[in-house]
Amino acid sequence: MDNPGLDARSSGAGHGARPEGTVLEYGPGEPGAVSGVRRRRSPALPVGSRCRRGARVSRIAVFGAGHVGLVTGACFADLGHEVAVRDVLPDRIEALRAGEVPIFEPGLDELLAKNRERLTFTTDVREAIDGADFVYIAVGTPPTYSGDADLSAVWTVIDELPLLDRRVVVALKSTVPVGTGEKVRRRLDARGLRHVGYASNPEFTAEGTAVRDFLHPDRIVIGTFDAADADAVEELHRGIEGPVVRCDVASAEMIKLAANAALMTRISFINEIANVCEATGADVVKVAEGVGLDRRLGPHFLRAGIGYGGSCFPKDASALKQLAANSGYHFQLLNAVIEVNELQKRRVLGKLQRHLGTLRGKRVALLGLAFKPNTDDMREAPSVVLAGRLLAEGAEVTAWDPVVDGRRLLHGVELAASAREALRGADAAVLVTEWPELAELDWAAAAKEMRTALLIDGRNMLDPDALRAAGFVYEGIGRAAPRNGGLD
Ligand code: UDX
Repeated sequence: MDNPGLDARSSGAGHGARPEGTVLEYGPGEPGAVSGVRRRRSPALPVGSRCRRGARVSRIAVFGAGHVGLVTGACFADLGHEVAVRDVLPDRIEALRAGEVPIFEPGLDELLAKNRERLTFTTDVREAIDGADFVYIAVGTPPTYSGDADLSAVWTVIDELPLLDRRVVVALKSTVPVGTGEKVRRRLDARGLRHVGYASNPEFTAEGTAVRDFLHPDRIVIGTFDAADADAVEELHRGIEGPVVRCDVASAEMIKLAANAALMTRISFINEIANVCEATGADVVKVAEGVGLDRRLGPHFLRAGIGYGGSCFPKDASALKQLAANSGYHFQLLNAVIEVNELQKRRVLGKLQRHLGTLRGKRVALLGLAFKPNTDDMREAPSVVLAGRLLAEGAEVTAWDPVVDGRRLLHGVELAASAREALRGADAAVLVTEWPELAELDWAAAAKEMRTALLIDGRNMLDPDALRAAGFVYEGIGRAAPRNGGLD
């Protein structure tokens, strides 16, 4: 396979540049020692010792039982590998052992249950590593106060690795700044683990569709210092259809950051187009449809709304911005993307005020709290900013969400048991998350129960005509309201 950017620098005994298509095999008990070199066309099988139904089965230790770690572990187990998931949280590990799934991710519980015999859960590093061919690192890399990514959990894993006497490949799934792999390599070498391989194998899974994204990826990115490690990681994915991008470690790290930045740029772009649509009388939904049909552009990530949130986009944007700044580059476009998103979350306030005047004492129902449907994740959710701003303006805030745990709500926000209950007696409603349940709601009945039937559809989910026919003053994002559509 073509491997244009592969850095062939030696990273340990037996590592180094070698002709494309050659395979190194490591002799048992001789970490990193080359026992033979042969040419073959298909990817090599340099690690992994067991076979299941004719396919190479590897042992994988996954560090981190969060969203990425659990999906990675469950999917690799589904491919037939033996997986040990390790986390520092004893309660989480106990729950997983008892068959409970501590996160909300469609399809994950079925996958974990189906592959139970190939999955173990532990807090013990040595138990996880025992017999492992791969160590996958899928720990959190949250932002620090400076906006840089906090890599302390990654370093802890590297420092906790026992002195392995076999060739193991350490693969990083967590999103990290460019240059991290290089530092990890140096730290492994300094710890006497020169024979241990390294790969950057970033995740591109979105919450809510993570299992599907892992098993049916747009691409698998594998960045290594050594072709044999890339072969090993590629072989691990056998059974998954999709293009494989093999490259150097820095490029793999940048692919992940750049892909997220491109997606965020599209969202902020369409949100700004939406704002101009509002000022000029165009409808952004139609505009996005017309723009997205251009094959050079495509339809994805052109849904205007109240801004992106979640555990990845905001943190990764900040990390890339800081990475550029730390390298002496001012990433102007990315700065604008971030700023547009922050302002977009707040624009709903202006819309409410235009219809209701002061918000003091007004009751506002937030429909949906999660940063998007099919997740209970509220990290960086627009609902949090919105609720905070509404409370600061003196509004009463009720909220409904089918999965979000009420204990995580901002102090002062009331949680309703149903959307209808949240809407009862409200002066306005804001559709924050496009939960499918909201499309099924009896909006005509809800309009009669509200004090003022005003709806700001923050996701352009509903049909404006149908909502107006149901008695609502309806306003979306980037969809010019009819001239006589206001309350006054
Ligand atoms: C994202 C990336 O999609 C994934 O590849 C990466 O690995 C992690 O970050 P995720 O955060 O789970 O995944 O959600 P995604 O579906 O990408 O949505 C992110 C945010 O963008 C949500 O708040 C969503 O509502 C918003 N969004 C998305 C828009 O506002 N408009 C769109 O057109 C698409």
